Amino acid sequence: PDRYAVMGNPVAHSKSPLIHQQFARQFRHAIEYIAIQVDPGGFPQAVDQFRAGGGKGLNVTLPYKLEAFRLADHLSDRAKQAGAVNTLRFEPDGRLFGDNTDGTGLVHDIQHNLGVALKGRRVLILGAGGAVRGVLGPILKHHPANVMIANRTVSKARDIAEAFAAHGQVEACGFDALKGKHFDVVINGTSASLKGEVPALPETLFARGALAYDMMYGDKPTAFMDWAVLHGAEKVVDGLGMLVEQAAESYFVWRGVRPKTAPVIEGLRRGSL
Ligand code: ATR
Repeated sequence: PDRYAVMGNPVAHSKSPLIHQQFARQFRHAIEYIAIQVDPGGFPQAVDQFRAGGGKGLNVTLPYKLEAFRLADHLSDRAKQAGAVNTLRFEPDGRLFGDNTDGTGLVHDIQHNLGVALKGRRVLILGAGGAVRGVLGPILKHHPANVMIANRTVSKARDIAEAFAAHGQVEACGFDALKGKHFDVVINGTSASLKGEVPALPETLFARGALAYDMMYGDKPTAFMDWAVLHGAEKVVDGLGMLVEQAAESYFVWRGVRPKTAPVIEGLRRGSL
């Protein structure tokens, strides 16, 4: 079988092996996909070792997306924009190709799975870390009316807004400055949910019919999702769809076919995979 893996730390609870096995089944592809825990400082060696063992491609998760970006010999445009790589492909000529499927995955989930078109919408993105930088390019490509990046540390939001200024209508602010503003799509890209926290947001954020999207996911709704339900968002979802969609896009990068995602998302939600 062709060999793939996800590298990260921690990675033991990654759903990627399960997701990619489901994809492979759809096409009757014989693949092996494992999770590899990589110790700090050991990423380049781990990649070399995987390649030497006949590996075809890798997913890269926290904290190695920046290192993967630096390690790649050539990059897709969306990886260059994101400044991070979550998908590596070992080329027949020995070169290492770096791509980033996170933003495309998020947009796919929002537009196709949830049926919310981004075009002309007022979009708010919470947070200004690597997760947000990684998805901004693909969001702007779909021509929202505007994108506001709000972050606890305003300077970081400004840096990102400046970096993407050529690609669309992007502004930056702190959470306080959101008072009185309304948004159609609110995406939480902060890591607050990991700690069960919600950014300090005004309660009037959601426009009528708004989508609240948390890029995180867990066994139960995140704190941000609970907050969004309470404050009038119409659709409230976690990042499980994004996880499966970015995986499908990686599968396409490696193997040239795009798996169906709906049955895999449903299976994961039901816990029946
Ligand atoms: P990642 O690369 O996963 O995005 P990161 O670079 O550490 O991780 O960024 C985490 C983001 O979550 C930041 O935007 C951070 O805000 P600051 O830049 O002000 O630190 C945000 N964040 C984390 N905990 C938060 C909380 N409790 N409330 C609001 N924002 C929070």
